[in-house]
Amino acid sequence: MWTISDDVLADWTRRSLAAVDDLLRATLHSPGDPFLTTVATHLLAAGGKRVRPAIVLLAARFGDPGYDRPAVVRAAAAVELMHVASLYHDDVMDEATTRRGVPSVNVRWGNRVAILAGDYLVAKAAELAAPLGTGAVEEQARMLTRLVTGQLRETVGAGPRSDPERYYLSVIADKTAALFALAARLGARASGAPDDVTTALGTYGEALGIAFQLSDDVLDVTRTSGQTGKPAGADLRQGVATLPVLRALRRRKPIRKDLTRTGKDSALLRKMLASGPITDAGELATAARLLSRSPGVAQTRTEAERYANQANQAKQALRSLPASVARDALDGLCDHIVSRLE
Ligand code: FPP
Ligand code: MG
Ligand code: MG
Repeated sequence: MWTISDDVLADWTRRSLAAVDDLLRATLHSPGDPFLTTVATHLLAAGGKRVRPAIVLLAARFGDPGYDRPAVVRAAAAVELMHVASLYHDDVMDEATTRRGVPSVNVRWGNRVAILAGDYLVAKAAELAAPLGTGAVEEQARMLTRLVTGQLRETVGAGPRSDPERYYLSVIADKTAALFALAARLGARASGAPDDVTTALGTYGEALGIAFQLSDDVLDVTRTSGQTGKPAGADLRQGVATLPVLRALRRRKPIRKDLTRTGKDSALLRKMLASGPITDAGELATAARLLSRSPGVAQTRTEAERYANQANQAKQALRSLPASVARDALDGLCDHIVSRLE
């Protein structure tokens, strides 16, 4: 499984990440209710890369050197809790059976517990964020609005009047990139960084988040559940029109009869996907195989690279910031996200 490797993070980041985990543990410990503690800490205890808290911590290096470290750790913990909360709900919606290599909360304790535990985590994230001030709380609320809106738009799908690719990009910007942008902005704010620095870091987070979800959508079809810790082909099973699917099905110039392998693959895939979500395990494996060798996957990989590297995207946003170890680490995160696809 992909983790943030040692060469990207400096010692101080790792020490602060340990402080974030301590705060998460303390926040979710309910002395009178061991069941609630177990359910609320289930995915955090299972692992996770802590990418979003790492972004908060790195962004905080661009403000006042004597910044309020506990406030930054608090912001990082709040961001991780909102992320984990969204995973609890997402696994209910996606009927996912595993996450982070362990049974998902919905499988272990049922949908009702998973939904309420996700709500509980959102509430705890709000408690953590409150002392950061009304500005941070407002940003958090706006992010949650985008998160829920993106997930809802993914659920209902692009109607006949919208362009499916533009729709998909707006969905992933809202459901994923909004939280990455918040992580970067909260870190900057908590360290007293000037507004232009906070804005640049927010732009970085937004583009990195899109690259992250694009790569996640590729890995959904190219990796096994053993590699990702979550069910393979989940998007195909749910009938989610991700970019790899949209590009694989994009009609090319009509040839009288397309007898190339790509042409035949695409025709078969189209037929399989036309009948809605794929539930049969054998068919799912076939569709994932067809998709993983389709131009859709290769093109999505290129798009992820574009969001990470190209003009006006993640790396570019960093260039306006002073050179530092933190800037190199944020830059390195772009490479890591894209290198997951090699
Ligand atoms: C993972 O996507 C899911 C998200 C990025 C967002 C989920 C958001 C909600 C369920 C809205 C409700 C949230 C809260 C906090 C109230 P995915 O299914 O494509 O990725 P996966 O492969 O990790 O499952
Ligand atoms: Mg999912
Ligand atoms: Mg989902």
